[in-house]
Amino acid sequence: MPEYVTVARAADVPPGERIVVEVKERYIAIFNVGGTYYAIEDVCTHDDGPLAEGELHGLEIECPRHGARFDISTGKALSMPATQDVRRFEVRVEGDALQILI
Ligand code: FES
Repeated sequence: MPEYVTVARAADVPPGERIVVEVKERYIAIFNVGGTYYAIEDVCTHDDGPLAEGELHGLEIECPRHGARFDISTGKALSMPATQDVRRFEVRVEGDALQILI
């Protein structure tokens, strides 16, 4: 059963920042864009590139390895060479705890 898991303090990820956490043997990239949090698996579906190391344009993250782009709000693959969406996770703030549903 998925459950909300605390991964950081919300204050640790201010607007414009991102972190990578390991939860249940998965690497998850969490982004704060203008005060809204987004979480996706930090593994590109093309060839396992570390997405959190890529450049973020609005809500589009560009994989640093071969340039595939993904929407961090949906996980949708937006460009080649990726053809499969990346997994996304619900994020919430409880008190000062940043939690993801996993
Ligand atoms: S590993 Fe991400 S585009 Fe190739």
